[in-house]
Amino acid sequence: MKSDLKGKHCITLQDWTKEEIETVLDTAVELKRQRALGIPHHILQDKTMFMLFFEESTRTRNAFEAGIHELGGHAHYLTPSATQIDHGEGPKDTVEVLARYGHGIGIRNCTLGVGNRYMREMAKYARIPVINMQDDIYHPTQALADLLTIKEKFANDLRGRKFVISWTYAPRYVRPLSMPQSLVLLMSRFGMDVTLAHPPEFRLMPDILEQARANAAEAGVKFEIVHDMADACKDADIVYAKSWGAMMHTPDEKEALALIDKYPNWVLDKKKMDLAKPSSIYMHCMPIDRGIEATNEVIDGPHSVIYDEAENRLHAQKALMAVTM
Ligand code: CP
Repeated sequence: MKSDLKGKHCITLQDWTKEEIETVLDTAVELKRQRALGIPHHILQDKTMFMLFFEESTRTRNAFEAGIHELGGHAHYLTPSATQIDHGEGPKDTVEVLARYGHGIGIRNCTLGVGNRYMREMAKYARIPVINMQDDIYHPTQALADLLTIKEKFANDLRGRKFVISWTYAPRYVRPLSMPQSLVLLMSRFGMDVTLAHPPEFRLMPDILEQARANAAEAGVKFEIVHDMADACKDADIVYAKSWGAMMHTPDEKEALALIDKYPNWVLDKKKMDLAKPSSIYMHCMPIDRGIEATNEVIDGPHSVIYDEAENRLHAQKALMAVTM
């Protein structure tokens, strides 16, 4: 494996080999250790990270901003209205100029049919690494932190673990597909049997499912799709339960919202969590709709690792910046 990952874009982890992903995770563990010991690690002294957000964020933004600071660098928070993007400046001109000032750029753009295309257009012209801070298809920095968390919780013993990603009820707004899609793609590559659970209308993008099946076949693990949340939870090692939208069923947002209301029982409660293994963990990328996607008993219960998972955003994103910038 090429050890030098400088300049490598991270739009999807599908473009990264397993060994490259392991390098990032090993770096995250090392940086986490140094931070715990108070050892300065100014690997990116005087480097600048641009963060262009088309949508708001708590974890992604603050993990990058705190992270680059701890690495000795600096972050610029950008939005379309704080730049000339809202006046029509396109990805080529934006990134050609920003690359003259700084050393990496993260982008969040979750608009369906737009976000990933925008990011790839940026990457075409960028002479600095482009990091996907979530788009309409992928959320690689969250998936990296999730994998790091699972490795920590199961002492790196992942082969044959049952990883469940389940849709949940959450009626307030339609959420992107990027999280479940990144998880079904990644977890099988690291030896886990993946179960995807959702009501029929909430399927993922067909080409993502095809890639997920291919990843599972190559890794020699199972990939199954079920339409019953309780069934999915049975004997699970990891229950990752979060909502996403029915955009593969309908382009109409009102219809997509109404569909969510057909399935108010898709809530992760103690009864369903008790179907998983006693040693199982409950995960959610956050923000979470408390009492709606999962009960507080589960969210604050003994299986929950959601805050460790959120903390690992910091370590994983620092590692990603450290190796690419
Ligand atoms: N999980 C996640 O991406 O959180 P934010 O939207 O707060 O960044």
